[in-house]
Amino acid sequence: MAILAPSILSSDFSNLYQQIRLVEMSGADWIHCDVMDGHFVPNLTFGPILVEAANKSTELPLDVHLMIENPDNFLEEFYKAGSNYITVHQEICPHLNRTVSKIKELGVKAGVALKPSTPLSTIEDIATEIDLLLIMSVNPGFGGQSFINNSLKKIENAVKLRQKTNSNFLIEVDGGINKDTAKKVFDAGCDVFVAGSSIFKEDNIAAAVVELKKILNNK
Ligand code: DX5
Ligand code: ZN
Repeated sequence: MAILAPSILSSDFSNLYQQIRLVEMSGADWIHCDVMDGHFVPNLTFGPILVEAANKSTELPLDVHLMIENPDNFLEEFYKAGSNYITVHQEICPHLNRTVSKIKELGVKAGVALKPSTPLSTIEDIATEIDLLLIMSVNPGFGGQSFINNSLKKIENAVKLRQKTNSNFLIEVDGGINKDTAKKVFDAGCDVFVAGSSIFKEDNIAAAVVELKKILNNK
């Protein structure tokens, strides 16, 4: 069953509670929170305080995507804020096993994200340890970018890697997911679909969620 995770990055923050309630009532499965520090990525968003506010707004699992340097220093705060999944970037973690272990010790599901230019082989030796593999299908930092088509091959290879290593991680794809790209991403083997602008920038947010869910569930 495909999981749809609207990214609040593209939401109207002056109306966050209502926007989260709206996507929840329309059939969203998780809420995706994009944390950016202006160092690892060239954009600055929000921290644990807003994740906590999102947690108070919904019963849905919070899928927290950390695009920050030194993520280890903030794991506990994001756990306390109510994160259900915490995903860190492979590129910024010199001791990835240690970081993943720390997340799991907090009782939170652990994810690892790869930028489009980072090979899948970099997580092969940790594949059995992770709960989620986030494949970025745009360069991280901004919503509203176009889907990078090479990501499809990476998703297919991630499915093969999961089989080869006898792992159980979910495969999540983030960036440029909309009603035109969702089907091919599903067909490639994706489990979790992050969508920001194709939901929150639409005039009818509820209808956008329903339509994406329909595309994913008809497959
Ligand atoms: C980009 C973020 C994404 C972003 C996706 O760095 O990680 O989660 O919100 O936005 P869209 O769906 O608009 O590409
Ligand atoms: Zn994200």
